[in-house]
Amino acid sequence: MTSNKLAVVVLAAGQGTRMKSELPKVLHPIAGRAMLRHVLDAAESLDPERIVVVVGPGSDEVQKAAVSHQIVVQEERLGTGHAVMCAADALSEYTDDETSDILVIYGDTPLLTGETLKQMLELRREARSTKLVGLAFRPADPAQYGRFVLEGDGVVKGIVEFADADAEVRKIDLCNAGPLIGEGRSFLDLIKGLQNDNAQGEYYLTDLFAAARAQSLDARIVEAPADEVLGVNSRAELAVAETVMQGRLRTKAMAGGATLTAPDTVWFSCDTVIGRDVVIEPNVIFGPGVTISDNVQIRAFSHIEGAKIESGAVIGPYARLRPGTEIGLGVKIGNFVECKNVVFGAGAKANHLSYVGDSAVGPKANIGAGTITCNYDGFNKSRTVIGAGAFIGSNSALVAPVTIGEGALVGAGSTIVEDVPKDSMALGRGRQAVFPGRAAFFRELKKKD
Ligand code: UD1
Ligand code: CA
Repeated sequence: MTSNKLAVVVLAAGQGTRMKSELPKVLHPIAGRAMLRHVLDAAESLDPERIVVVVGPGSDEVQKAAVSHQIVVQEERLGTGHAVMCAADALSEYTDDETSDILVIYGDTPLLTGETLKQMLELRREARSTKLVGLAFRPADPAQYGRFVLEGDGVVKGIVEFADADAEVRKIDLCNAGPLIGEGRSFLDLIKGLQNDNAQGEYYLTDLFAAARAQSLDARIVEAPADEVLGVNSRAELAVAETVMQGRLRTKAMAGGATLTAPDTVWFSCDTVIGRDVVIEPNVIFGPGVTISDNVQIRAFSHIEGAKIESGAVIGPYARLRPGTEIGLGVKIGNFVECKNVVFGAGAKANHLSYVGDSAVGPKANIGAGTITCNYDGFNKSRTVIGAGAFIGSNSALVAPVTIGEGALVGAGSTIVEDVPKDSMALGRGRQAVFPGRAAFFRELKKKD
């Protein structure tokens, strides 16, 4: 049985009305990645022969997120069972014998792991007679989930949707997480027989269990931890899912050798890569696309996205690194420094109150407090190149495009509009005038008023 083929159907056609959003529900991000992408990651980890994604009409964005998989459009949203019926043609080669399995997962359960799906698959393949396997869980608040009704012997009798459940059934705390695996042939037969005579007038995928029971087909369940199968239907549930995912990412960062002094205040993206002996102080946020090498210190209140940081660097407190930033070995980026699309060579420093954008900063260059690279003229972005070992005095404006040569020195308060050659000193500011005794004279004058 282990050589069975597997097809996965991902349901992503629902409107997500409870989100009250223009963005399709399955595209709302968790840890910087669309919910649908998380679900597809779990599905892909099973290495199935085929993944079919059921989307609603006019859902170009959803289709983009599912690119590389087969897309089926559910023209009318008539329920989860109907969504699977729409995928039936795409599944035909998995439904003509008993050597294929079909797994259905919902696009709005982003915390699901590949391990749990594997457990379901193993249970389904353990015995030929097990035709259907569902995933159950016991949430602290069973809310509006469908309830599993079991026979005395633990066999599944069916699932009753919340809208159709009476007070007695609503007391059941064994809830339906959504994922369901069926043996190919019986699965399709059961799907075709679904009806919509229920409280919501929908074709419920969950009715498959009662249908299997009616045909004396064996259905079983795997039980998952409650925080793995949370369904996201509202913004509040989205926030809970984010919290659970962040917990996992913090644990992973610490297990990998990073110190988080206040883990609950650090926010990761699911693609954040962190080396060993990295110290992350409180209240740091990582947007997508961050890679940090070993022995880096990220100080409090820094916001980092799309950046690569090499060993020995110290970032922050209060630093902002935006996409395209590459921080070399031992670089220091201090408080209130914003970097965008800039490469810092080894040992360079920008320690206070600066904006450095569309630039290259050579090794060991020193950028003084309050330096601004003026990269934008309202129409075009231009580059600033600062050579190795150059020193930019405080409160300088470098008007791009401009190049400061190696070892050059820019006097504090300069506005630099022309290139500065190697090892030269440049001053671009008004000359100072001094009038001896004039201050005292002024004070005397004012006293007489
Ligand atoms: C569903 C289950 C419920 C379970 C819960 C777990 C059914 C009938 N009910 O309820 O037993 O406890 O999930 O989270 O399945 N979708 C479509 N086409 C449709 C309708 C829905 O593709 O016509 C997709 C949605 O995009 C979503 C998924 O199916 O990803 C689930 O739909 P949703 O309406 O959220 O179902 P629940 O009411 O949460
Ligand atoms: Ca749902």
